[in-house]
Amino acid sequence: MVLGDSVFQLLIFSVSFLVFFSAWRSIKKWKKMPPGPTPLPFIGNILQVKPNDMLKSFRKLHKKYGPVFLIYLGTLPVLILNGYDAVKEALIDNADVFGARGRSPGIKVFFGDYGIVSSNGERWKQLRRFALMTMRNFGMGKRSIEERIQEEAQFLVEELKKTKGSPFDPTFYFSRSISNIICSIIFGDRFDYQDEKFLALLKLLNQFSKLFDSPFSQIFNNFPRIMLYVPGPHLRVIENMTRLKEFIIEKKKMHEESLDPNCPRDFIDCFLIKRETEKQNPASEFNDDNLVMSTLNLFFAGTETTSTTLRYAFLILLKYPEITENVVQEIDHVIGRDRAPAVEDRSKMPYTDAVIHEVQRFADIVPLGVPHAVTQDTEFRGYTIPEGTLVFPALTTVLKDPKWFKNPYSFDPGHFLDENGAFKKNDAFMPFSAGKRICLGEGLARMELFLIFTTILQNFTLTTTKEPKDIDLSSGLNSGNAPRPYLLCVRPR
Ligand code: HEM
Repeated sequence: MVLGDSVFQLLIFSVSFLVFFSAWRSIKKWKKMPPGPTPLPFIGNILQVKPNDMLKSFRKLHKKYGPVFLIYLGTLPVLILNGYDAVKEALIDNADVFGARGRSPGIKVFFGDYGIVSSNGERWKQLRRFALMTMRNFGMGKRSIEERIQEEAQFLVEELKKTKGSPFDPTFYFSRSISNIICSIIFGDRFDYQDEKFLALLKLLNQFSKLFDSPFSQIFNNFPRIMLYVPGPHLRVIENMTRLKEFIIEKKKMHEESLDPNCPRDFIDCFLIKRETEKQNPASEFNDDNLVMSTLNLFFAGTETTSTTLRYAFLILLKYPEITENVVQEIDHVIGRDRAPAVEDRSKMPYTDAVIHEVQRFADIVPLGVPHAVTQDTEFRGYTIPEGTLVFPALTTVLKDPKWFKNPYSFDPGHFLDENGAFKKNDAFMPFSAGKRICLGEGLARMELFLIFTTILQNFTLTTTKEPKDIDLSSGLNSGNAPRPYLLCVRPR
């Protein structure tokens, strides 16, 4: 019994010593630490950053500790940057130091080290440069990206006509069209809207975002090794990821079997050709793992983001019929009804351009940004930030920075218009983030938003099942932002 007590005391002493020693070592590295809530051993700041109320928790901490603060997700320190000044100072003025991708332990399990989004260093440089060049120069086969979007917008119009004025959930209408645009770029072809496999894939993507938002996944993100043994929706995220990867692997095989090196059809063909030409280069990153993950990155990032923004856009318009009326008048005046909208129309449509910018600002669909990491020990605003520290650029605090937007929490296209009604740029418009890791699909997404938004309003009058005053524009998510489910009715104009 006495021996048992001594062993127990020794155990308690050893654990306390280890906790103290690791905390001391970690604090020593920081020299001057940014402010933040005191973490508890192992669980960090889980009491302050609640996995079931992430965004609200971050907002509270921002209010209490100011633009730069430190939290612990489990035992992992994370620097949180808030407001335009701090985010710009890090991502733009110190682009090299703050330009690396940061990965929490859970993200490493979900996404691994391959592909454009998760990689760093030479791998990231090669893959990002290749993807940008392929999407820009290759012109995506014989047709321009603009033409592909215009074509898809017409398919969407035909599909919407079939609803004959009955209310429907617009989620998969928008995601099928938006996804088809990126599909035609990466796989060479669009899918039929009724294609079972396509629908199953889109369901996986949509589910992935919802599952990823669950409190279980947030906890998994901090404690993946333990959570792998705890049942919950986070395990389905891994399952979904595996099924999406399998789909891409199958596409890669089909491309390999039918590849004509003189006539690349799409992103996968270009990658296969590059893999072959770089075969002798030991530093080449053009291998199968990077092909699969980069393609999946484009498919994933290119579908959910833009279609969620569009879904938000139309809900906002349903709440504000007078804003819709102004946009429709501008469409009628500049484009008319007899031809499809084109990208060059945008510069002649300041009101519509301002509304789309304001949709992206208000919808704020990547509110905490995608994690970054610092590449070396650095001094930032008087604090010493050790190499490798994870950084969250909280884009929501930039898009809703009161210094840059008069009514940050209201939908007001005036944020992007001057007193003469001309379009007015705003540096704090950062839905695509900023600096070296700025969204690779920004150009494509902006083109899609403009062309699809205007095509729908050119062709249809929109209504819903609720009165405008009863429409709730607040987000239906916990760590991200997305519109609450709604029913849309469209009638040909
Ligand atoms: C409205 C639509 C979109 C929004 C709001 C959006 C937003 C973002 C944000 C906030 C990031 C993180 C940047 C950072 O690390 O600081 C990002 C990265 C990325 N986005 Fe987008 N995105 C959109 C559409 C797209 C599209 C259509 C594509 C496909 C071509 C795409 C591909 C990517 C990729 C590959 C990255 C990773 C870039 C890197 O790590 O170097 N995105 N996006």
